[in-house]
Amino acid sequence: MPLPILLTGVTGGLGATILHHLLHTHALPPSTLIATSRSSSNKPHFESQGLHFRLADYARPETLLTAFEGIGDLLFISSSERDNATRLVQHRNVVEAAKARGVGRVWYVSLALGGFENGSRAAVMQAHIATEEMLKSSGLDFITLRAGSYSEAFPLFLNWYPSSKTILLPNLTPSVAEGKAAWTSRDELGEGMAALLAKGLAADPSIIPRTDRKIILLTGPVAEPFSALVEAINRGRGTEVRIEFLEPGAWVEAQANDDKGGKGVAWFRSRLLWLQGLADGDCEVVNPALEVLLGRRPETGSRAVERLVRAEEGYTWHQNHVGPRK
Ligand SMILES: NC(=O)c1ccc[n+]([C@@H]2O[C@H](COP(=O)([O-])OP(=O)(O)OC[C@H]3O[C@@H](n4cnc5c(N)ncnc54)[C@H](OP(=O)(O)O)[C@@H]3O)[C@@H](O)[C@H]2O)c1
Repeated sequence: MPLPILLTGVTGGLGATILHHLLHTHALPPSTLIATSRSSSNKPHFESQGLHFRLADYARPETLLTAFEGIGDLLFISSSERDNATRLVQHRNVVEAAKARGVGRVWYVSLALGGFENGSRAAVMQAHIATEEMLKSSGLDFITLRAGSYSEAFPLFLNWYPSSKTILLPNLTPSVAEGKAAWTSRDELGEGMAALLAKGLAADPSIIPRTDRKIILLTGPVAEPFSALVEAINRGRGTEVRIEFLEPGAWVEAQANDDKGGKGVAWFRSRLLWLQGLADGDCEVVNPALEVLLGRRPETGSRAVERLVRAEEGYTWHQNHVGPRK
């Protein structure tokens, strides 16, 4: 009997899609899967589907040592914690517990900034690069799944709201409006990751983990600029949203002063680095692995944006709204 697969992040968008495809596309018996959450209030939801449930909180190592007992594969979805130092402590807890419990293979969901390289300056990527490094030095068997930037998160990336008449961007060199990204659907990422977990690396011989970080790069089929996403919003909603530019310092101030989601100066400063990375080509590497796993061409970013804004008049993204203004 193969050891069970333990899944983190299954109460979230990506993990729930992976679980759905493991059960319904690949017909894995629920009894071979262990769902986890930081909260045991989620236990009945998973147990009623025949799944096992264990408590796993990256911030509480004792829960991880118990959860990782006797498992084969571990799907490790990165923490949603925003502070990098805290995030890294949590990720170290996961790697150390996996090592202590002799987990068979860790599948770490990382981010695709920089493609196969480690040169991205974006703060969010630093924690991923450091976690990949921890996995490498741990001696664990691991795969890094570098996931493209979610198409569904376009409102966050553009700071677009359904009421927006303009998209404000910082005036960067090269132009951030023309910086291209291989936007990737979160649903399709989940579908592709499930295929890998269900079939293992035998899913297709063309999918070979690359570099010493064992990277499988999962991206959309084409790199498109922000301007293409704005055109897609306008096509989908019949609007005439335009891009306008401000000098970087003024951009941070203007966005933080007037953000409907209440995001503050620190958030937009960090976003400025991400945008500079985008302008420099951090997100533009396209890789065919996701297409191979899906058995069809993944949806492009502009198609996804047009579909999403047509389907839901007030389309939003939960991370756009970080709570009360700080
Ligand atoms: N590629 C991209 O463009 C992009 C964009 C945004 C985020 N991300 C990253 O991708 C991850 C998954 O995305 P998503 O959209 O599925 O996020 P999501 O819907 O916010 O879900 C986050 C999941 O992570 C779990 N989690 C968070 N902190 C945890 C902790 N300390 N210990 C254990 N589990 C924890 C949550 O589980 P419980 O609450 O049940 O414990 C939840 O299931 C995010 O966490 C983030 O790191 C990627």
